[in-house]
Amino acid sequence: MSEDTVLWWQSGTVYQIYPRSFMDSNADGIGDLAGITSKLDYLGWLGVEAIWLSPFYPSPMADFGYDISNYVDVDPIFGNLADFDRLLEAAHSRNIKLLVDFVPNHTSDEHAWFKESRSSRDNPKSDWYIWTDPKPDGSPPNNWISNFGGSAWQFDEVRQQYYLHLFDVKQPDLNWRNPEVVQAMLDVMRFWFDRGVDGLRIDVVNLLFKDEALRDNPPNPNWKEGDPGFHQQLRTYTEDLPDMDGIILEMRKVADAYPERVLIGEIWLPYERLVHYYGAELNGLHLPFNFQLLLLDDWQAESVRQLVESYETALPEGAWPNWVLGNHDKSRVATRLGQTRSRLAQMLLLTLRGTPTLYYGDELGMVDVKIPPELARDPQEKGSPGFGRDPGRTPMQWDASPDAGFSAPGVTTWLPLAPDYEKVNVDAEKEDPASMLAFVRLLLALRNANPALNSGSYRSIESSAAACFVYERAGAGKRFLVALNFSDQPQTVSINDAETSQGRIVISTRTGREGIVNLSGLELDAAEGVVVEL
Ligand code: GLC
Ligand code: CA
Repeated sequence: MSEDTVLWWQSGTVYQIYPRSFMDSNADGIGDLAGITSKLDYLGWLGVEAIWLSPFYPSPMADFGYDISNYVDVDPIFGNLADFDRLLEAAHSRNIKLLVDFVPNHTSDEHAWFKESRSSRDNPKSDWYIWTDPKPDGSPPNNWISNFGGSAWQFDEVRQQYYLHLFDVKQPDLNWRNPEVVQAMLDVMRFWFDRGVDGLRIDVVNLLFKDEALRDNPPNPNWKEGDPGFHQQLRTYTEDLPDMDGIILEMRKVADAYPERVLIGEIWLPYERLVHYYGAELNGLHLPFNFQLLLLDDWQAESVRQLVESYETALPEGAWPNWVLGNHDKSRVATRLGQTRSRLAQMLLLTLRGTPTLYYGDELGMVDVKIPPELARDPQEKGSPGFGRDPGRTPMQWDASPDAGFSAPGVTTWLPLAPDYEKVNVDAEKEDPASMLAFVRLLLALRNANPALNSGSYRSIESSAAACFVYERAGAGKRFLVALNFSDQPQTVSINDAETSQGRIVISTRTGREGIVNLSGLELDAAEGVVVEL
């Protein structure tokens, strides 16, 4: 791809902010928009291209903002629309793009639309949600289960009908088969684009359509005792239905009416099905999120190589790849892999072909925090104990002061702070060249400065060491070799390159390692990764 056709959302890195947990400007223990604005210089310094904000809209907070009672305003906890405009302007003045979360599958039960819809069977919005009669014995119409546990149907006394909620009971699913709903939601997209946002991350976008005949979902043959309850069924009739396609195209048309906007879709599907969302003529979503690194249990060179290769193969012509290592729904990467291997993972994320998404705090090596049951907040924890998402959502660690610089000292934060914050924080890590922060920032700088890395080609390379994953990135007249040792033993990689026998290490997971290396005997320490300029 030639340099001048590369767009910002292709070459740049996206940084996800969970607004409740980033920075609290008014000492109520909860992060807010003004707090984020006050930390934009940090994000500019780090080297990210864009920030994506998880929801900040008015919400009863049953699912911490993913239950929205008004799509076109700001919850007072986070500020107001003027705060939002200030944040957007301040981001743009630093050349940082701003993406917001768009949650089309469900509203809050406190949204005016739902209040009207549930008020009778024949009001103008009666068909805006998925209502259905009970079975003759009064039970729910089918076996569908909620992602947060239990039946996905809730009986309503007034209508004497059930409504569908694939998530919390306070998150009724909208009826996307109703053209009025479609128009209302496309208008929400326009509202944010008109305000100037650069893109949308679309929540559970592959769930919008459900089987019209409401057939039972089959049991998941792979489910075992101890797995979360919501994995007990296959989502045959509740996700990824072909009926979706038209809506994706409509959403894309809305985005295309504005210059250089991006649509990112949250889609937990295997590659064969995921790539469909790019659209047959690439007129669908720009970036259907690729979550496979987040789901990978077997952290070995061969598994990762196969994953990358199968993704590269599955991508349709002209589709832009992307990679995700962490988000607000999963255990943090430093907890999943440990600190040493998560450095290797960051090197992978930031040198693979495709747009990387970085989750706030992962650049510090923040870990999951054990939340005592009485302090649990996440509805998923309540429905499936042990599978809650609070541990990966704790306050950002800015400095070593009593509140980690997140809130005012002495304030009780909405989730507890990590016990390690006196050591693991932005201030301390800025000063330490061996820190995760220094390492991630260097990687970002290297990526940003080199088209080979941020938009060049990818080629997997044979090496003598099976425990290592080696690949080449090339573009704009430069070539980089990335060699990652996934094992706990030192390895020697030997590569035959047609053009050169030597290269220069530009970054290693081992701080301070640099210099010229011979490609016939490139030595890697246990779990070490290097980027070599050829
Ligand atoms: C998405 C969000 C998750 C939320 C759910 C319901 O999966 O990432 O946090 O609970 O949708 O909106
Ligand atoms: Ca606050």
